[in-house]
Amino acid sequence: MTPRRRPLVAGNWKMHHGGSTGVELATEVVRLAPSLLHVDLVIAPPFTALAACAHECDGSRVEVAGQNMHPKDSGAFTGEVSPRMLLDAGCTWVILGHSERRQHFGESDAFVAEKIAAALAAGLRPIACVGETLAEREAGRTLAVVERQVRAFLPALAASSRPAAIAYEPVWAIGTGKNAGPAEAQEVHAAIRAWLQAASMELASDTRILYGGSVKLDNARDLLASPDVDGALVGGASLDAASFGGIARAAEALSTS
Ligand code: PGA
Repeated sequence: MTPRRRPLVAGNWKMHHGGSTGVELATEVVRLAPSLLHVDLVIAPPFTALAACAHECDGSRVEVAGQNMHPKDSGAFTGEVSPRMLLDAGCTWVILGHSERRQHFGESDAFVAEKIAAALAAGLRPIACVGETLAEREAGRTLAVVERQVRAFLPALAASSRPAAIAYEPVWAIGTGKNAGPAEAQEVHAAIRAWLQAASMELASDTRILYGGSVKLDNARDLLASPDVDGALVGGASLDAASFGGIARAAEALSTS
């Protein structure tokens, strides 16, 4: 049996905690870190709290991610933030291609791939998100949709030596309280692993594939126990340090068992 990859548990705060409450939450996550030595912890606050949260995480094992990014270095792109700006704010990771960006802001596979390539080139590690809608799942198109999304950015991942993460987040499971069952998640994660493997064995073994979509304290253990689930991208449950910590503890327990 291949050894488990070191789990990564990332909190996507979305449009919450953009000020002092974000700094408080970051402080609480930093306090959890010493008891979670076998898990990589990432928090993704809104842009307005990135630098302050990164300052709070300084010297701890908690890393900070942007929730989005423009692929260009600078320019006339009102309202956008560049890879360099995320690095300057103290980020080491960036979430890209989240379904809310694809759905509400019209981000195409090609644009997401361009962002992922730009992030890697700048020195950021992307968490590249993929996932099918309910209609696509019901039409039996889950693997076809996820494959199309992964293949769009696969060349960018393969061209970089910087390990990235992929988050499989079924759109119907995000914020709905409905999660994919462990077997449903594992099926998609194994397929993603196989597509990575076809590009390079090293890429397949170095890329952590996270599950996201209503991950909570009570389902985290079962989801994380699947062999190709290397961690979680947590939305709602990451807004509270106790539940985020509990999910990370489930990952810690599995990686040390
Ligand atoms: P959720 O969000 O955990 O609230 O479902 C996950 C995500 O969108 O990353």
